[in-house]
Amino acid sequence: MNDLQILSLPEYAIVGETRLQVQSLLGECFPGWFDGRSYVKQLPHFRFLAMEGESVVGQLGVDVRVINVGGTVIPIMGLLDTAVRLDRRNTGIATKLLDAAECHARDGELEFLVLMADRHDLYLKAGYRRIQPAPTKWLAIEDRQTIKVIERDLSDCFMAKPLTDKTWPTGTIDMLGYMF
Ligand SMILES: CC(C)(COP(=O)(O)OP(=O)(O)OC[C@H]1O[C@@H](n2cnc3c(N)ncnc32)[C@H](O)[C@@H]1OP(=O)(O)O)[C@@H](O)C(=O)NCCC(=O)NCCS
Repeated sequence: MNDLQILSLPEYAIVGETRLQVQSLLGECFPGWFDGRSYVKQLPHFRFLAMEGESVVGQLGVDVRVINVGGTVIPIMGLLDTAVRLDRRNTGIATKLLDAAECHARDGELEFLVLMADRHDLYLKAGYRRIQPAPTKWLAIEDRQTIKVIERDLSDCFMAKPLTDKTWPTGTIDMLGYMF
């Protein structure tokens, strides 16, 4: 078996066979969500790809932005669609993808890593904490159309990891865009 390599690639550079493999991986990991595409609502800015030779065995999407939490604007790295091929799970690949993202976010002087997860254990082990309460406002996109602005408490899924000594501010979380 080839050694595992974690690549960081801007979305526009993921083309051809690599894009097809990402689409296939996401279809396998999130049945019914991707409809043969590599995104559900919007393209991420870049992805971390876990590669074994030419094979994509894992991926993590990234959206870099500022958000406004109770009046405090914070630069974040948003993580989406953590996915590892079924036959490669439980060997630490997702953890390596999260580590790579954290390394880049620290180099980029971002203040928090942010993600949404229904199941929390992978992320708790990596040092993420649940944000509770998490009153959140975002731009809803459905079927690739902008619908409206939604406000809802996302306590069940909102997670963040600080990258500096700053604590998560209190107040409404305005995502300043769509929910990744
Ligand atoms: C979640 C997923 C990416 C983990 O990949 P992985 O490479 O096996 O993860 P690691 O080996 O680094 O860590 C394994 C740990 O992840 C945790 N985990 C497993 N499935 C998980 C899930 N769906 N969500 C969160 N954590 C999960 C478990 O704690 C597991 O440890 P354990 O088996 O000892 O209990 C992979 O199971 C997957 O692709 N699942 C389908 C897609 C998905 O649900 N993605 C998460 C979206 S938030």
